Amino acid sequence: MKTKLEKIIAAAIRAPSGDNAQPWKLIASETQGCIDIYNMPERDSSYLNYQQFASLIAHGALIENILIAGRAIGCAIKLIIFPDVNDANHIARCEVSEHAPELDPLYDSIFKRCTNRNRYRSFDMSEEQRQSLKCAADCIKEASVGVITDSSSRKRLAWLLRSNDQMVFEHKDIHAFLFSQIRWNQKEVTESCDGMPLTSLGIDVVEAHIFPMFRFWSVVNALNSVGLSKIIGLKGGLNCRSASALGVIKVDRRTPESFVAGGRALERVWLEATRQQLAFQPVVGLPLLMQRLVDGRLDGFSAKQKKIIEVASQEINNIFGVDDKTVIAYFRMGISTSDPEQFTKRQCKYAAVLD
Ligand SMILES: Cc1cc2nc3c(=O)[nH]c(=O)nc-3n(C[C@H](O)[C@H](O)[C@H](O)COP(=O)(O)O)c2cc1C
Repeated sequence: MKTKLEKIIAAAIRAPSGDNAQPWKLIASETQGCIDIYNMPERDSSYLNYQQFASLIAHGALIENILIAGRAIGCAIKLIIFPDVNDANHIARCEVSEHAPELDPLYDSIFKRCTNRNRYRSFDMSEEQRQSLKCAADCIKEASVGVITDSSSRKRLAWLLRSNDQMVFEHKDIHAFLFSQIRWNQKEVTESCDGMPLTSLGIDVVEAHIFPMFRFWSVVNALNSVGLSKIIGLKGGLNCRSASALGVIKVDRRTPESFVAGGRALERVWLEATRQQLAFQPVVGLPLLMQRLVDGRLDGFSAKQKKIIEVASQEINNIFGVDDKTVIAYFRMGISTSDPEQFTKRQCKYAAVLD
């Protein structure tokens, strides 16, 4: 059982998390046959992690990896979400027992999945492929997935999604956390075992020379007056324009449980895209800002910026037909133009304690 628990944990911690903060702690017990999953709020202090929503999505992805890995390596897993009503950070308990292994086509993808922030090569996605991506998370009852491939909607969505990256460069606190998570060289990547390698950010050789200057808010703030954030946004928009499909993950309610379910759905679609050898990037800044907007908590943004966030989100959601649901994430998919090895080398910091 010890080897199986270790394999499950190895799959779990490959999950994506906002800026690779890995906001989790896993405590596994061989004697009890269980894995307890805890949220560590101090690991993701981003402005975007409002009400821990980003971390809850990441935990959903981690849980989904556990369930997929369990099935594939021969374990039955009983999942109990929020097992302790007095501890909101006790996200889940997984009770693990022996079971015959079952083939799960998504298992291998866990170790290949990565965020690809480069420009993609667009292609005409077949209806069959679109459906298999859309249906990848059908087993998560609380969540639903939308995938759009038609050219005119994609074009409009890409234009609207540019405000996602633009806003990151227009808010001091969002900027501060993002840059605290950038690992500038291989030594920092290896030593920290978290954060985002500079090489994974989708910037070219020329941009890589200028980019270090942007770590200083005073520089970014000054350059914003001559359009820096708009150029960054435009680049994000063009990246979305290069995608063959744009998608949305939405959930019925706005509870911690729903965000975990949304994270599970996001991970399943991402793994299915990986299985189909598609490049994938989640776009989650805007939906998280919307959560702040709903509560009137967009502190630090001007009235004009709030309007941009509101108008863009509303139109995006209209195109996706979100209605009154809660958006967990948008995402883009396409064919990678770069070596996948570039992205899969990131480290995992927070492995589990095993008794
Ligand atoms: C809740 C959440 C929000 C994220 N938001 C974004 C985003 O807006 N843009 C982006 O490029 N990546 C985003 N990511 C991807 C993470 O940055 C990425 O998973 C992390 O750096 C680890 O890298 P990997 O996915 O290549 O393993 C997000 C991931 C999660 C789970």
